[in-house]
Amino acid sequence: MIDRIVDAALPPEEPQEVELEVTLRPQDFASYIGQERLKQNLKLAITAAQKRGEPIDHVLLYGPPGLGKTTMASVIAHEMGAQIRITSGPAIERAGDLASLLTNLQDGDILFIDEIHRLNRNVEEVLYSAMEDFKLDIMLGKGPSARSLRLDLPKFTIIGATTRAGALAGPLRDRFGHIHRLEFYTPDEVQQIILRAAGILDVKIDAPAAQALATRARLTPRIANRLLKRVRDYADVNGDGIIDTSISTQALQLLEIDELGLDPADRLLLLAIIDNYGGGPVGVETLAALTAEERQTIEDFIEPYLLQIGLLERTPRGRKVTAKTYRHLGRTPAADAPQSALL
Ligand code: ADE
Repeated sequence: MIDRIVDAALPPEEPQEVELEVTLRPQDFASYIGQERLKQNLKLAITAAQKRGEPIDHVLLYGPPGLGKTTMASVIAHEMGAQIRITSGPAIERAGDLASLLTNLQDGDILFIDEIHRLNRNVEEVLYSAMEDFKLDIMLGKGPSARSLRLDLPKFTIIGATTRAGALAGPLRDRFGHIHRLEFYTPDEVQQIILRAAGILDVKIDAPAAQALATRARLTPRIANRLLKRVRDYADVNGDGIIDTSISTQALQLLEIDELGLDPADRLLLLAIIDNYGGGPVGVETLAALTAEERQTIEDFIEPYLLQIGLLERTPRGRKVTAKTYRHLGRTPAADAPQSALL
């Protein structure tokens, strides 16, 4: 089966945008833990496509970072027996870059475009007809002597990934036959992922410690695997290499990660709302200024988990914290705080 991962768009001397944790990434549906509904849908699509001897329709995967969009793309390729080429929106600078990528594909290949919302307009327009009709429309020359050329392309599949489906132009979104959101994992699934990674990395961790890490990994496999590696470092230096709850608690304290998985940036954001705005609501731009984080960082990396676990709410007038936030941070809502914060 061919499932070679090729970095198609970036010249070899440039760092690869997409970090490939090849050893920890599951290769097939059987070893991919979680995202059950998505796997069910994709299995169906793959079986149907294989029955017809066709590539599957273009797939758009969206959701917070670290939930496995790239991994799922390589699983799809593996299950299809297809070759996958990996690139990203910002790496495809000109229409010509896209043309060269597309003309080098073979029938059945998968082109994975990470951060697809960051494609520029000119590139996006070339992509429309490529995705719809497998035709490449290119302009040759400029001015009065310019002429357009239409080339046939192989039957390929685009898998696009984005943290912000809303930022995608409508016509581009409409060209995906499958649009799926990746969900946060349950603590149970995260624990299974940690135990699987520990097995692959040959790390000794007991079940309570795996559970402790799982509850602090923000329901996100990438963070779970990162924590496992950092705690392994700690165990190797300060213990006998075995991760138990005592070692994991000490390591997490050093990393300033609390029982809910919040790090200093999360706490700074929540405390900014409490201390400066009586619990909110407050606009995201104001929060960006108060915490010295970019708005995008807040929206894409910090907020999704806080919203998921009910420490933050989005309202038309801005963000506000909840009663759970006050309890978690050991604060008392001010007497004149909005009623919702007292519930
Ligand atoms: N490693 C990272 N994500 C994973 C997943 N969803 N299943 C198994 N291992 C993983």
